[in-house]
Amino acid sequence: MSRPVADWVIEHLQKRDDLTCELIDLADWSFPQFDLRKPPAMGNYEDRLQIAWARTISRGDAFLFVSPEYNHGYSGVLKTALDYLMGEWQDKPAACVSFGNVGGARMVENLQQVWVELGMIPASPSTHLLGAHGKRNGNKFVAEDSDGRALDRTVARLVDHVHRTKKQERAANDQKWPRILVLGLGERAIHSVVLPLQLNGWSVSGMTVPDVIARSPDAQDLDVISFGRGALGVDADQLKNKFASSNPEVRIVETFLPIATRQVEAACDALEGNAQALDAAVVSHMGDHFALNAEIAMETRLGVSAYTIEGTLASKRIVTIETGPGPVQIKLPVPKQDISGFMIEADGAEFVHVPIL
Ligand SMILES: Cc1cc2nc3c(=O)[nH]c(=O)nc-3n(C[C@H](O)[C@H](O)[C@H](O)COP(=O)(O)O)c2cc1C
Repeated sequence: MSRPVADWVIEHLQKRDDLTCELIDLADWSFPQFDLRKPPAMGNYEDRLQIAWARTISRGDAFLFVSPEYNHGYSGVLKTALDYLMGEWQDKPAACVSFGNVGGARMVENLQQVWVELGMIPASPSTHLLGAHGKRNGNKFVAEDSDGRALDRTVARLVDHVHRTKKQERAANDQKWPRILVLGLGERAIHSVVLPLQLNGWSVSGMTVPDVIARSPDAQDLDVISFGRGALGVDADQLKNKFASSNPEVRIVETFLPIATRQVEAACDALEGNAQALDAAVVSHMGDHFALNAEIAMETRLGVSAYTIEGTLASKRIVTIETGPGPVQIKLPVPKQDISGFMIEADGAEFVHVPIL
């Protein structure tokens, strides 16, 4: 039943011009059980599906769940989808369009408890559809006028809550500085940059290029826009001019790197006068070969826990070391004169190039 009901909800909401809505069908998301290595509350997601889900949920300002009641509760599928994330749900208003033999009211009460634990804002009243089966005609849910009015009441509450939370967010963001927008092509890459920075208290948001083209971000609310020319290609100058004209004060940082982490770092450093994230890199002679000792201190600011250190020789990878934060020592399998430097990556995002001294 959920899909016909959800289609009706979307169709009904699309008539409004004060909101945009997107249907997320859990039938398109197959979340494996027992699979995540870390609790989602830790935030630094490693699982690809989890990151994609996080990006999807991040897009929403509010959530309207369409769900039946099963044995006075909601489905395990829905619970898993909720449990797969944490921060992305927080401070987002939620309500339900429910159905079942008695309109799904008990299920909504169960669901509200979970929303509270996820930091969501339960908005009442939800819409309880009575006699839903009788209103189904094939794949279509044929709603009565009273269903539409109930849905309007639910959505009005959601919209009210969104306005209120946005206002609070704006007030809170005024305290946080600088406010940074990371632009890039890949959702995964953006998310791996944005989320750790957010968890460390930066005011950072991320957008993909198609999103930026479709929906211009409000440059008035930004101090730094960070993007990779490589990712944006010919659109770079166009976007740069667009932002520059809407807010001449905004600082635009661009590099040729495909991923934004380093630009964000550079922007933060430039604005705050912070020292380099990589504390020190010392290369010492060891007979014919060399060792690199580096102190990786980036986790203090970026919240990432796993690093890949990669040595390249004439663009060929000659050494790859997976490591955590702290001191590392790498013995090079080639003579010094053959090595020009190291690339250190965190969570798949290109980070810092360390030259051999
Ligand atoms: C396993 C199961 C348990 C159910 N338990 C309840 C219930 O506790 N309360 C209720 O009002 N309806 C209950 N129903 C009826 C469903 O909510 C209703 O048939 C709904 O349309 C099912 O949605 P679905 O076809 O998408 O599975 C139950 C249905 C099933 C299959």
